[in-house]
Amino acid sequence: MTTDPLHVELSSLLKPVGQEHVLRWWAELSPGEKEALAVQVRGMDLARVNRLARSLRVEAERAPRGGPLQPPPIRSLAAMDAVTRRAAREEGERAIRAGQVACYMVAGGQATRLGIDGPKGTVEVGPVSRKSLFRLHAEKILAASIRYSTEIPWLLLTSDATDRETREFFEREGNFGLGPAQVRFLLQGSLPAFTPDGRILMKTRSEIFMGPDGHGGAIHALSGSGLLDDLLKEGTDVLSYFQVDNPLAPPIDPVFIGLHRLEGAEVSSKVAEKTDPEEKVGVFALRDGSLTVVEYTEISDEDRLARVEGGRLKFRGGNLAIHVMSLSFLDRLREEGLSLPHHPARKIVPALDEAGRPTTPSEPNGVKFESFIFDAIPLARTSFVAEVVREDEFQPIKNAAGKFTLEDARQALSRLHARWLAGVVEVPSDASGSPSQPVEISPMYALDEEELRSRVPPDLQIEGPLYLSPEPVPGE
Ligand code: UTP
Repeated sequence: MTTDPLHVELSSLLKPVGQEHVLRWWAELSPGEKEALAVQVRGMDLARVNRLARSLRVEAERAPRGGPLQPPPIRSLAAMDAVTRRAAREEGERAIRAGQVACYMVAGGQATRLGIDGPKGTVEVGPVSRKSLFRLHAEKILAASIRYSTEIPWLLLTSDATDRETREFFEREGNFGLGPAQVRFLLQGSLPAFTPDGRILMKTRSEIFMGPDGHGGAIHALSGSGLLDDLLKEGTDVLSYFQVDNPLAPPIDPVFIGLHRLEGAEVSSKVAEKTDPEEKVGVFALRDGSLTVVEYTEISDEDRLARVEGGRLKFRGGNLAIHVMSLSFLDRLREEGLSLPHHPARKIVPALDEAGRPTTPSEPNGVKFESFIFDAIPLARTSFVAEVVREDEFQPIKNAAGKFTLEDARQALSRLHARWLAGVVEVPSDASGSPSQPVEISPMYALDEEELRSRVPPDLQIEGPLYLSPEPVPGE
């Protein structure tokens, strides 16, 4: 029996939740390692950890699946009449100018599939400029701030995995020219990884294997950090949410923001048509009358493959992870103490084995829990789903090879900008319709096709890679 008071304290926390094995190498740890482990254990929400671990062992504690799925109503933005579109744009622009709109970008993920060193936001996505994802998003927000004569706040969610390097990157880049009060970092929570039967996994003999708690952590971090209160005091009305890994995401879309307000929605979401049932995106559906997103890992084969007359998929509203959320909704979730469910996922976890030896598993050996931002949607009293053109707004960077690579994203940006330009000047293209040379338009030159048309000289000749920017090309 140890009389080490630190061991006694930690043991009294871990034993009741069946996780005392975390301390099994205690006797061989240095004082510093013991203290570090104590900080980790004390910092964990052990009641939550216990609930999650039990859900792996006890079938009855898993979230119920609910009733059958129905396709939801979806409005196409492309097919919207000009009068409604103009009214929506005016409403959105009014809100942006009045300082009622803030952007919220999540960047806490570990980029495991991309396998890079450092946060995903640092990858050089510019097809010609090679500017980083962080810079690209920042310039869109800066350009919109200038256009609407305001300083749009930009909230960035980081995690223990990305926080330090993200902040350093922003510091080195002088916040990309954004005002000091504009960029606001929030740190999301972490959760331990488990064995399939609910035992906490160790990274080293003195460190629990932790990971970020999913992009749903964005909602908790907002109230936990005090930023929700700050924004409410500042008169912010809506948050425009997007994910760092999608370079095509428009952080500020006045038409979408305007529609959200005119519809009186608590949450609005963008979708694009899913045409391949195997594509790894979640779909929107109605379940028990509530709008919900069903992840591609959680939909039944029958629903995934179902088609309607004419051959389109029955559940074709692919989730683009672009939402507008009312702050009053997020405030209500906090008031009502509503939290998002945690979904278990089998993952490769290079943790210690039972004998304390490092492992390099090639198959999923552990379970990580994550909450998903879209699980907030069924909690909204009113919601709105808008269909957009996929090629305009969605090309996330996910994998090092195969689909959704960095190179795919560069090409998607280049094709989009070439389409904008093609309305004004001749853009040489190859047999597939893609520009024969990469094309890039800086957000500081033009934020959208309409602005580009008013700026680009009609006698512009494209003879090589083209980067239209008010500043010189970096490195030249
Ligand atoms: P993904 O679920 O695609 O994960 O995140 P990822 O971390 O980028 O990549 P993998 O799965 O490890 O390969 C989608 C978006 O959600 C953010 C990511 O930063 C990305 O913008 N995210 C994800 C968080 O902010 N926190 C998380 O815990 C998970």
